[in-house]
Amino acid sequence: MTTTLITGGLGFIGSSICDELLKKNYSTKCILVDNFGGYMNPIKEGFIDFRKQRFKSLKNIVIERCDTSNYKALSSIVSKYKPKYIYHTAALPLAKVSNLNNDEAKISSVDSTVNIIDAINLLKNSNKNYKFERFVYFSSSMIYGDFKKSIVTENSEKNPKDSYGIMKLAGEVVTEGLCKLHDIPYTIIRPSAVYGPKDMNRRVSQIFIENAFKKKTILIQGKNEKLDFTYIKDLASGSILAARHKRGVNEIFNITCGKGQSLFTYVSYLKSEFPNLKYIIKKKDKSKPSRGTLSIQKAKKLLGYKPKYSLRNGLKEYIKFLKENYQN
Ligand SMILES: NC(=O)c1ccc[n+]([C@@H]2O[C@H](COP(=O)([O-])OP(=O)(O)OC[C@H]3O[C@@H](n4cnc5c(N)ncnc54)[C@H](O)[C@@H]3O)[C@@H](O)[C@H]2O)c1
Repeated sequence: MTTTLITGGLGFIGSSICDELLKKNYSTKCILVDNFGGYMNPIKEGFIDFRKQRFKSLKNIVIERCDTSNYKALSSIVSKYKPKYIYHTAALPLAKVSNLNNDEAKISSVDSTVNIIDAINLLKNSNKNYKFERFVYFSSSMIYGDFKKSIVTENSEKNPKDSYGIMKLAGEVVTEGLCKLHDIPYTIIRPSAVYGPKDMNRRVSQIFIENAFKKKTILIQGKNEKLDFTYIKDLASGSILAARHKRGVNEIFNITCGKGQSLFTYVSYLKSEFPNLKYIIKKKDKSKPSRGTLSIQKAKKLLGYKPKYSLRNGLKEYIKFLKENYQN
């Protein structure tokens, strides 16, 4: 049995990767490193706290409370468990919070990435028999800024428009530079608009669906604004595939649905499930980049990645989960 360490392991993406690793019998134990933080207060805002539902069973899971900005504590956890794989998802994940807290965003996205890579390097150097398999850094589609074309590939221009995108891109630079310097195999994942059960960060996909449940009017800012909505299970399985595939070594992948769809399309799918749903359309929020499709051709070709969920099917599963878990 191998050991996998997931920073931000109690979060939406981290816990879903853990779930997938354990359910699909990857024969691994998961060490979840998290500061028990969270940037939204779901209870205060009147929403359900899904954190307790993120783990059905604690078999083969160890939870370590640690802030990734604390090098000493982080390094001693890495040395203790000697993981073969590290998925680094811990970060300030919200653009609007990040843009108001540059320093915190830098500490969580950049300094923490330096810390975790240094911790791997220390373990590698003090343990000649130890073979580290892969460091996986979670970046974002926000590093592209305004898409110049409706589809971006991994090589498209990177021109982040806000502090969040800048810090995520800086984390990529740190990952590529330090991992090459220390001969640590890495993979960079660029997700986009991830949605699905147990998300709590109140991004647009969650706000829309929760408004549908609460019979509140949905505000669409920019009818034709497109996002590459990606179902959480596709991101989790795609990230594991990239981390474990030989051809994923030292590569960057867009791991998304591979299809930009408008906010209006998202709402019209919701309307077929909630016929009385009301919405209003306003102008686009100019502070947000104009996005579209993230090409997944590279991941398809090198890894055989194939997302399973169309937006319509992902939404059906998400709605089913909320129907079973929403008690408001
Ligand atoms: N969800 C998306 O749509 C999306 C899209 C693109 C990129 N990402 C990236 O994926 C990653 C995970 O996002 P998420 O949606 O799961 O967010 P999340 O908030 O659900 O999970 C993040 C977890 O990390 C923990 N954490 C944050 N800072 C920490 C620190 N300094 N030390 C230890 N733990 C810390 C939090 O407590 C939380 O449990 C982030 O890096 C985010 O930038 C997410």
